[in-house]
Amino acid sequence: MTDSRNPSPYDSPELYDLLFDSLDFDVPYWVETARSAGGPVLEIGCGTGRILLPARRAGADIDGLDAAPAMIARLKDRAAAAGLVVRAETADMRAFEMGRRYSRIFCAFNGFAHCETVPDQLACLRSSLRHLEPGGAFVVHMSYPGPAYWSEPEGKAVLEHEVALAGGGKLQLWDNRRKDIVAQKQDSEVEIWELDAADRPKAVHKFSTAQRWVYRFELELLFAAAGFARWDFLGGFDGRPLRAPDDQMIAWAFSAPANGG
Ligand SMILES: C[S@@+](CC[C@H](N)C(=O)[O-])C[C@H]1O[C@@H](n2cnc3c(N)ncnc32)[C@H](O)[C@@H]1O
Repeated sequence: MTDSRNPSPYDSPELYDLLFDSLDFDVPYWVETARSAGGPVLEIGCGTGRILLPARRAGADIDGLDAAPAMIARLKDRAAAAGLVVRAETADMRAFEMGRRYSRIFCAFNGFAHCETVPDQLACLRSSLRHLEPGGAFVVHMSYPGPAYWSEPEGKAVLEHEVALAGGGKLQLWDNRRKDIVAQKQDSEVEIWELDAADRPKAVHKFSTAQRWVYRFELELLFAAAGFARWDFLGGFDGRPLRAPDDQMIAWAFSAPANGG
């Protein structure tokens, strides 16, 4: 799944949370998706619960799974600290067995990009479909890399994200990406810099990761091959149609209804 030269960023859930837990551009959308499901919900690639915990707090009957044991352990600690009862399993989104059917299953924040081959993508979609109730929905969010992304100069780290730390100092995420436009892939050497209040480096943490991008019509074919009955696409969390390069792609794929209609 990831390059073996450095550890995966998902081996360091505390750093992940310091960087990303405050991101909320998508949280209201997923909380509403979970709350309005009318039945149980599963988040695959749930991480430390950035979305799952607010959804649980809002009353959703939501389970989670993630391949990284450290992310699941942190999610469980956070749930316990918040007094929330949550079922979260260490499992691979390409081959999981939860022993339960769900009204909705979702994969947020580019988690599906960690399925790097067509067999991996299909395995994830088929495992999800097997866990859906009739007429249930699988919902996936993926960035939609357009020409500006593919033509970025390479061989130079990009400051992708920066957060101020409580008590002073900051964290910076620098991403040195190699892109393969034919394979629709990005291999990243990630450095997370801890800076003190005077911007002096205190520590640097190195990771490797890879992502495979997927475009609309390819995803339609994957949904069809996996056995979904129908699908819809959005271009943003405000519900806009998918039109522009660099939109956010949110795809809803539905299992066949019970009456076969
Ligand atoms: C970008 S993070 C998103 C985490 C969380 N959903 C969020 O929005 O903050 C992607 C997550 O997918 C998980 N992941 C990667 N490959 C996976 C796989 N094959 N099966 C399950 N989880 C996987 C990672 O461990 C990580 O927690």
